[in-house]
Amino acid sequence: MRHRYGHLAREYDRRWARYVEASVVGSLRRIDLAGVRDVLDVGCGTGTLLERATRAHPGRFAGLDLSLEMLEAARRKLGARAGLVAGSAATLPFRSRAFDLVVSTSTLHHWRDPVAAFAEIRRVLRPRGRVAITDWCGDSLLTRLRDRVLRRLEPAHGRVWRSVELAALLADAGFTDVRIERWRIGVRWSLMTGTARAGHN
Ligand SMILES: C[S@@+](CC[C@H](N)C(=O)[O-])C[C@H]1O[C@@H](n2cnc3c(N)ncnc32)[C@H](O)[C@@H]1O
Repeated sequence: MRHRYGHLAREYDRRWARYVEASVVGSLRRIDLAGVRDVLDVGCGTGTLLERATRAHPGRFAGLDLSLEMLEAARRKLGARAGLVAGSAATLPFRSRAFDLVVSTSTLHHWRDPVAAFAEIRRVLRPRGRVAITDWCGDSLLTRLRDRVLRRLEPAHGRVWRSVELAALLADAGFTDVRIERWRIGVRWSLMTGTARAGHN
């Protein structure tokens, strides 16, 4: 994974410009930043979501990614506006109860251990903190076909989840108020944003 996105980092923003822009804008539209101070973006990539969020909101922002090259691209974009850290979603290098909001866009389908990742996200959230996960939605046939192809051809690909499966992952990790909204970018991309609230840890 680190290797794969190391190669992609330089061309990622150009190659995926329209998708990234639309998915990040669509995700942010579904997140309420009111009252939020500390925000973590898991799998922040080149920092497009953080770039927009830091312009729109006066909180403290952190981004985490497996790929040093993606983080380097994010650093160029963000400067000191966000703290950027190398690491895995499954073992977050942050103290417990450090964040009010954890977001993640287009990375869940890469995670090798989503159960560990959601436990970690819950751990780093303050009580009543919120999580918002946007990714491809396996409810759509086209997405399931893409999933099947990528599993064979793309070593960095993990798997696509259906909306009920994302809801179950969140609920099993102890989140409450789980909601999944399905949405689209054109005809090709079926996405979902799962939002939920951390109970008391
Ligand atoms: C498709 S890119 C999405 C980047 C960014 N969130 C966006 O919306 O443009 C997926 C990113 O997730 C990162 N990633 C994949 N698995 C990860 C994991 N387990 N922990 C942290 N980052 C991960 C990759 O290195 C890559 O930068």
